[in-house]
Amino acid sequence: MSTAISPTAYNYKVVRQFAIMTVVWGILGMGLGVFIASQLVWPHLNLDLPWTSFGRLRPLHTNLVIFAFGGCALFATSYYVVQRTCQTRLISDSLAAFTFWGWQAVIVSALITLPMGYTTTKEYAELEWPIAILLAIVWVTYAVVFFGTIVKRKTKHIYVGNWFYGAFILVTAMLHIVNHISLPVSFFKSYSAYAGATDAMIQWWYGHNAVGFFLTTGFLGMMYYFVPKQAERPIYSYRLSIVHFWALITLYIWAGPHHLHYTALPDWAQSLGMVMSIILLAPSWGGMINGMMTLSGAWHKLRTDPILRFLVVSLAFYGMSTFEGPMMAIKTVNSLSHYTDWTIGHVHAGALGWVAMISIGAVYHMIPKLYGRAQMHSVGLINAHFWLATIGTVLYIASMWVNGITQGLMWRAINDDGTLTYSFVEALQASHPGYIVRALGGAFFASGMLLMAWNVLRTVRESKPAEAAAAEQIVVVGAH
Ligand code: HEM
Ligand code: HEM
Repeated sequence: MSTAISPTAYNYKVVRQFAIMTVVWGILGMGLGVFIASQLVWPHLNLDLPWTSFGRLRPLHTNLVIFAFGGCALFATSYYVVQRTCQTRLISDSLAAFTFWGWQAVIVSALITLPMGYTTTKEYAELEWPIAILLAIVWVTYAVVFFGTIVKRKTKHIYVGNWFYGAFILVTAMLHIVNHISLPVSFFKSYSAYAGATDAMIQWWYGHNAVGFFLTTGFLGMMYYFVPKQAERPIYSYRLSIVHFWALITLYIWAGPHHLHYTALPDWAQSLGMVMSIILLAPSWGGMINGMMTLSGAWHKLRTDPILRFLVVSLAFYGMSTFEGPMMAIKTVNSLSHYTDWTIGHVHAGALGWVAMISIGAVYHMIPKLYGRAQMHSVGLINAHFWLATIGTVLYIASMWVNGITQGLMWRAINDDGTLTYSFVEALQASHPGYIVRALGGAFFASGMLLMAWNVLRTVRESKPAEAAAAEQIVVVGAH
């Protein structure tokens, strides 16, 4: 097989921009996470100001980590993967640039409006209608760039990673638009078009699939490209990846009602959500196993390659959170876990262990390639980052398990005469040590991001413009 340099080049500019902003927003979003975690230890940190109160900063944290950090990682990697696996440049540089600047505008608007208290009150869909409309326009443009590039691909097959990215883009558009249908009453206030239990169901159909498609399917696209690349092994089973894809997207969409157990939602809908969630274990683990087994014959690389360690440990946490989730969806288990810190622990097993770790691994893989360098400035710093992230995640989720089960048991404890054994404040006092450990774990995780920023900065600084330009050339495998 011969290789030839194609006259055209990849659009790496937009990939570099999104990759750098992944690190920037990661630091801000996680730093804010540490701050709100500290507010739960030391309430004085609310500073007696409305803008800095936990209630306003918490949704800012979720928006920054999910949409700013996670979103930029998904944009960066999907633009990188779609170009490389289709061996062609993105269909439009200007549309791609619009998605970058438009997305940053959405995030900056969130940064301003959420602390000011402008919110729809729908979790993960808090942004008021003018910003939601901008988000929808950016997202549709993203779909045009991504699918347009697939259409003009030079390769015969559409690599499976692109299937996952494609499903994530389409379903996110659908969820965002349907859940946001509302009646504006002023520039910064709107009311949902749905009422009562229907509104709750639409919201958690959105909310759960934000998890399923934004925080899972998109990152699985990342997994299917970066794990084989970093391990230098083909994906374990291409057939399993196809079964994994169809099973996952068919099942996820039904699982939303597990967020509404024991509510006004009809009982049959709750049970359906529970059953679908339990079945969801199978495709989730199918994907996890497919990723893990890709390392067959390459396990020794874990000893020397901290980037691969990030990717593999993220899969382990993915397996763990997708085992825990179906268990929590069982109504009797949920009656203990719901409203407690157990849910928060589950969220961060997925968010820190899976979403953040795989994104960090993918960015470390991409940065040298985007800037024409052989490797990152310091492999030792990547290793230090890996341990900070792993220890931080374990501290976070272990403390929340202890807190969650303590709270659940204390809230349901009843004396012989039918009165509650513990007051709410007693359960809160019992949770205090766990909150300290969680803040510490978060600080570990966030400080790892600072090491990453330094390492990325040095790598970018060391790159010469000619090296970066050479890295963009499309190498067409198999050409004459
Ligand atoms: C340094 C790292 C982080 C720290 C210290 C942190 C801390 C926190 C805290 C204190 C809360 C509020 C919990 C409560 O209301 O009791 C929270 C909520 C949340 N965080 Fe984080 N976080 C971090 C990273 C992340 C990342 C990377 C993501 C996503 C990719 C994420 C996603 C979320 C979500 C979705 C919630 C809402 C959970 C729910 O409503 O059940 N966090 N975080
Ligand atoms: C098979 C996979 C999964 C299932 C069946 C599942 C199930 C559940 C259940 C039952 C809850 C608790 C609902 C409640 O009591 O309020 C929950 C909450 C949550 N899960 Fe999962 N989970 C899965 C995987 C994941 C993954 C991989 C993530 C990734 C980041 C994740 C993120 C979340 C978030 C953010 C919440 C909190 C939602 C909220 O109340 O704000 N889940 N999940």
